[in-house]
Formats: sequence, structure tokens, C-alpha cells
Amino acid sequence: MIMYILKRWTCRKISLFAILTLFICYISYYYSITKVNQPYIPNIRIRSIGNILFKKISVVHYTTTFGKRTDSHSDLFNTNLKQICEILDPEEYLYADSAIVSLVDFVRFPSLVNKNISYRNKYQSQLWLLHIEESPRNSYRTVQMNNIIDLDDWFNLTTTLRPESDLHIQYKGYRIKPEIINLITNKLNLTHNYHPTNSKISKEINIFKNESSIYLKTLASILNKEFNDRQNSYLKACPFTCNQPLSNDLVQFLQPYLKPIIPHILSRDIVHIAWFVSNCDSHSGREEYVSKLRSQPGIRVDIYGECSSIFNKHFVPIQCRKGTPKCMEQTLSNYRFYLAFENSKCDTYITEKYWMQGVSGRAIPIVLGAKREQYQRIAVPNSYIHVDNYQTIEQLAHELHRLNKNDSEYIKYLQWTQLYDLGGDYSPTARYDMYSTLCFLGHYQRLHAMQEYTKQRTYLLKRIRQIFDLENVRLPNFNWETARTKLIKISEFHNPKVNCWDNDYPTFLKRAYNFFFLWSKLF
Ligand SMILES: *[C@@H]1O[C@H](CO)[C@@H](O)[C@H](O)[C@H]1NC(C)=O
Ligand SMILES: *[C@@H]1O[C@H](CO)[C@@H](O)[C@H](O)[C@H]1NC(C)=O
Ligand SMILES: *[C@@H]1O[C@H](CO)[C@@H](O)[C@H](O)[C@H]1NC(C)=O
Ligand SMILES: *[C@@H]1O[C@H](CO)[C@@H](O)[C@H](O)[C@H]1NC(C)=O
Ligand SMILES: *[C@@H]1O[C@H](CO)[C@@H](O)[C@H](O)[C@H]1NC(C)=O
Repeated sequence: MIMYILKRWTCRKISLFAILTLFICYISYYYSITKVNQPYIPNIRIRSIGNILFKKISVVHYTTTFGKRTDSHSDLFNTNLKQICEILDPEEYLYADSAIVSLVDFVRFPSLVNKNISYRNKYQSQLWLLHIEESPRNSYRTVQMNNIIDLDDWFNLTTTLRPESDLHIQYKGYRIKPEIINLITNKLNLTHNYHPTNSKISKEINIFKNESSIYLKTLASILNKEFNDRQNSYLKACPFTCNQPLSNDLVQFLQPYLKPIIPHILSRDIVHIAWFVSNCDSHSGREEYVSKLRSQPGIRVDIYGECSSIFNKHFVPIQCRKGTPKCMEQTLSNYRFYLAFENSKCDTYITEKYWMQGVSGRAIPIVLGAKREQYQRIAVPNSYIHVDNYQTIEQLAHELHRLNKNDSEYIKYLQWTQLYDLGGDYSPTARYDMYSTLCFLGHYQRLHAMQEYTKQRTYLLKRIRQIFDLENVRLPNFNWETARTKLIKISEFHNPKVNCWDNDYPTFLKRAYNFFFLWSKLF
């Protein structure tokens, strides 16, 4: 009898605990989704005009960036650009030449624009730029946008992880190591066809000597200075272009001259894989993949990060809880492979999981997310293993065992460390942030709209184009002839129905199942 009561009591305690946990999870999730900030109310204060002789281009960041407010106190322009452009407070968006909206904290936004296109029609000359670093799948979910079509008539420019954006965000990029370039030119006596851009500022600057317009004069001196600075910084980062792989022939040729890679050997029979993960319910279903991978013989996946702390506290070193890079580096020395699994499977959605954590040069990243062709287009050549190359998880496991046993096969995936440097400075638009881009485009449009077609005006228009040409920034939606942009249909450009091929967000039941069965099995 006592046993029976005890049993029932334990059982009830467990189910009570389970229900409570579920409830708390649900509430905290719900709260995080619906925590709606107050929209910015337009500020109708008349701004002091500032310097009447030089009207700066003004930019607002209408929403915060990951919770951090951007306003007139933000220090976002360098010393050159501070003299020709300014950041306003978000409340002053009516007066800005251009506005940035980050989709991540979009909740502030709809109340302003929702279905009120009359505002947009009234302020047509404003340039609106949409900034997104999440996958279409997740940004749709977090902004709870059924009506994303409402935004279609709103934005001129985009900055996202897609290379088709006006400003392509890529956390890092790669360049050929300077010592490799030296090898190619000196030892191998090959001329290589990597030509750095190097256009000097022409003598035409004289045409501003007698210029009476303070606007044109100031702009000329600042743009020239900025052009020089950017050119120097670009040549320093990418003396032989960035993100261009060496040809296979050349890599073959270089082989005898390269320092050998000594891989760390752990165990020949057990494949050691690390996984840092913080989002426990993904669209991509990566947790199920890991669960299956782990059940393969001789495969060991150690899990670090937020999800692991639910069940397993002692396993994760304290400093690794948040997956800080330094801890990761140290930790990765104990592994031969690393899972860089994205939370969504979407077009070109390749994030810091690959760039910051994955390609460390210590363990080989195994990637899941964007398609193979997209990794080929964006990632460092031969630096990763794509799960789509294997029809079944068994085949992947088999391949991992093969690489684990054969060092010459294993180090093929680390060969890039001999050839390339990786860094934020080498990414395709490293020197083109949203703010300075809008600054330049604002002046471009203003110059373009001028009535007199003077030499000076032509010179300045050309100079701005050259600034973007330095690194071949494409700005596909900006038309340099008309100084206008075409409309971005966000519902087509950034739409999970078009760009993604994974599952919808797991339902409440599915998440409960994951939480109690899948994740508990993983630890
Ligand atoms: C839409 O915006 C205009 C001004 O931009 C305003 O006059 C009008 O009241 C707004 N309409 C709605 C429905 O909010
Ligand atoms: C490299 O090539 C140049 C001409 O192409 C030749 O004069 C020179 O001797 C070569 N040097 C070596 C080390 O082969
Ligand atoms: C500037 O003006 C001076 C005197 O008016 C003239 O001699 C000179 O040629 C002008 N320079 C240019 C570059 O137009
Ligand atoms: C490892 O792979 C290479 C081919 O890259 C092969 O020649 C060699 O025999 C393999 N070694 C072992 C121990 O299987
Ligand atoms: C930006 O987009 C708006 C809205 O579609 C459009 O009317 C306007 O011409 C564009 N602005 C510029 C400066 O190109």
C-alpha cells in the first residue's frame, strides 16, 4: 500500500514537473515572441538646420539592431563621413534621407507602415533599406508576418546573407596567403593574374580650386580622402583579390613547397565530433539527424551549449556555456570533426556556425543547411563536408571512419589552411556597411538631381561610383544612370516558400516530444 502511494506520488511528481516545465517553456517562448515594443512615434520637433552651407545626408535606423538602439549618439561614421552624413534618432524618420529597418526587431515596425502606403508615396525620395541576418524561415516566424506583402512597396535596398542582396553580409571571407603569392611569383616563376585595383586620384581635383559652392568643395575633399583610405585598406586586406580560389593546377604545383599539416590523432576507432548548439528546436531538424548519426557505431558526438545544460550540467565547461569562440578553439582541439548545422535549410543561409566556429582549421566542419552549390559558391574550397553528399547517415558515418583512419585523406580538408587566410576583413563587402552606403547614395542622388550639369558635378558622381567599384560592390538595385532604385519585392526576395526547403517550425507537441525524448536521448 505504502509502495503504491509512493509510486503514485513519484509518478504524479514527475508528471507535475513535466507539465510545469512545459508550461514555463511555453510561456517564456510566447513572451519572447510577443514582447512588442512601443513603435517609434514621429518626432515633430523642428530640427535645427545645422550647417546651412553643407546639408548632410541623414540616416535613421528605424528599428534597433538586436536590441541595441541606434541614434544620433551612435558613433557609426568614420571621421571623413561624419562631416558629410549624420545619424538621426529613430523618431525623426520623417526627416531622414534614408532609413534602415532590421527585420530582427521588426515588431516595432508594422504599426507605422501597416497598410499605410500613403506615407511611402509622400516620401518617395527616401531610400529604405531592409537588413536581415536571419533565415527567411526564422524571420518570418519572429516577425509574425502574414502580411509581408504589405512591405513589398516599401523597400529599395536589401542587406542579407544572400549574395543577390545589394549589400551581401558574409561574416568572413578568405584571401590567398601572402607567402603563397610569394611562392608563386618567386619560386615557381609564374606570373599570376591577380591584379589589384589601383587607380590614383586624377589631377582633375583642380577644378574645385575656384568653386564657390561649399557643398561641392567639401564633398570633393571628403570623397577623395575616403576613396584613398578605402583603396589603401582594401589593398592591405586583399592585395591579390579576396574570395578567389587558386586553380587546381596551381595547388598541385605548390604541393612540394608547402609545410606539411600534422593532424592531431585521437582514436582510430572512434570518430570524435563536437557540436555547439543553442537553439533546441530547429526547422532543419538537425537534432534528429544528430540523434541518428550518434547511434552509428564508433561515432561520438559531444554536445555543448544551451541545449545541453537542460540535462547535462557537468559535461560542459562553464566558460563554454554560451559557446564563446575562445573556449571553442580550445575545445575543438579535442575533436576531429565539428557539426556546423544551420537551424534552417534556406538559400545561401550560411552563418557564423560555419564562418566563426566551423572553419577553425582544427576540426573539419560537417555542414547542413544551404545546398551544396551554395557552399561551393561561398565557402572556402575543400574546407567542409556537406551532408547532402551522402545519401544516408550510414554512408556519412562510413566516410567519417575512413577519414579518421587515413591521415592523408583527412588533411585534404585542412589543406586550405596552407593556402588561405580567413578574416572578417576579407569578406566581399567588408568595407561597405549599411550606413556609409546610404551616405554615399544620398549624396549621389542629390548631385544627380542638380540642375546645372557642371564638370564638378560629373567629377563627384564619378568619384562615388569609383568608391563602390573598388571592390566591385554591385548594388544590383541601384541604377547609376537614374540614381533611383527598383522596388524590392520582399515577399519574393526573402520568402521561406521560395528560399527554403525545410520543415515548418515544430508544433508545440513536436517540441514537447523533442524536449523529453530526443534531447534527453542526446545527453
Ligand atoms: C496614413 O498616413 C497618412 C500620412 O502619411 C495619414 O494622414 C493617414 O491618417 C494614415 N492612415 C492611416 C489609416 O493610418
Ligand atoms: C624566370 O623566368 C624569366 C623569364 O620568364 C627568366 O629570365 C628567369 O631566368 C627565370 N628564373 C628562374 C629561377 O627560373
Ligand atoms: C581660377 O580663377 C583664376 C582667376 O579668376 C583663373 O586665373 C584660373 O585660371 C582659374 N582656375 C581654374 C582651374 O579654373
Ligand atoms: C590512405 O589513402 C591513400 C589515398 O589518398 C592511399 O593511397 C593509402 O593507401 C591509404 N592508407 C591507408 C592506411 O589506408
Ligand atoms: C524607392 O522605392 C520607392 C517605393 O517603391 C520608390 O517610389 C522610389 O522611387 C525609390 N526611391 C529611390 C530614390 O529610388
